[in-house]
Amino acid sequence: MNILAIESSCDETAVAVVRDGRTVLSDCIASQVEIHKIYGGVVPEIASRKHIEAIYPLADQALEQAGLTRSEIDAVAVTYAPGLIGAVLVGVNFAKAAAYALGKPLIPVHHIRGHIAANYLTHPELEPPFLCLVVSGGHTMLVDVEDYTSMRILGGTRDDAAGECFDKIARVLGMPYPGGAALDCMSRGADPNCYSLPRAKVDGNPLDLSFSGLKTAAINLIHNAGQKGESIDVPALCASVSAAVSNALLSRTLLALDQTGRRTLAVAGGVAANSRIREDLSREAERLGLRLCLPELRYCGDNGAMIGAQGYYEFLAGHTADLSLNAYATKSLMGERL
Ligand code: KG4
Ligand code: ZN
Repeated sequence: MNILAIESSCDETAVAVVRDGRTVLSDCIASQVEIHKIYGGVVPEIASRKHIEAIYPLADQALEQAGLTRSEIDAVAVTYAPGLIGAVLVGVNFAKAAAYALGKPLIPVHHIRGHIAANYLTHPELEPPFLCLVVSGGHTMLVDVEDYTSMRILGGTRDDAAGECFDKIARVLGMPYPGGAALDCMSRGADPNCYSLPRAKVDGNPLDLSFSGLKTAAINLIHNAGQKGESIDVPALCASVSAAVSNALLSRTLLALDQTGRRTLAVAGGVAANSRIREDLSREAERLGLRLCLPELRYCGDNGAMIGAQGYYEFLAGHTADLSLNAYATKSLMGERL
């Protein structure tokens, strides 16, 4: 089954063609990062307009690269939630038009489910159940993936996502948006114990996280040093921040593995590209004899292939939509309105 998959929830317009949920025939991305960089973050109105400009030619490109004609597409999958509402709407409307014109089913896909499914592309033998640590620019949560379309959120951040924490600290350090990758690069080989940063404890659910205190502490440290005319060791600060984020994620992940008894751990989302997090998780997985699945770097950030992968399993579960499908800025992983 060939699925044309559309993703436009933030600042990447992405169209892919995926066969049977596992084989990527094409994966085209038009990134808007260079435009939003000027403003230090995503400008929603600009994002929507750029998606409109990019989506038609990108879909043609995806078909061409896949070597398929329109009539060989069997269904159209699209991110319908969550995301910047104007941006998601562009993808949803394009997908509705494409499904109608082709006379094929329309499959709505939750963006976070797509990130989780990115693992199916890199690890063809991976099947649920497994535990998934989702770490992206807008979301940080531990998900028990019971089946391809049945999942439970075990815990998550109470405030900022891990990516948000990295990006804001990177911005204050003068790194261009989105600074997570630059901060990661800067931290390599530096001393992660140089700066002592807070590790937040959250009352209630022991699997919940909080990153706003860490973000504020690092930013205050930078500002205070600036006011006193003191220099800071930027690579060591980046390494200390990465270690603090990674430690927090690791402790909750180990607890969740313990609670669920799962022996397979997958990681998903843009922050899954972080070298410290990858190293820490790999070391612990080896120590505990767990199977660890990390998506290839190109499938960590937003892409269309992950929507095609999840779209296939949504289709098999009968989760299709008619042309009244709407876009949602927020929606839970199990489809409830928030
Ligand atoms: O999953 P994603 O592409 O978008 C969302 O759905 O949010 O994640 C983007 C996030 C950004 O915050 C970006 O800075 C972060 O992933 N990121 C990283 C790294 N590469 C991307 N954060 C830390 N280390 C990295 N190597
Ligand atoms: Zn994403």
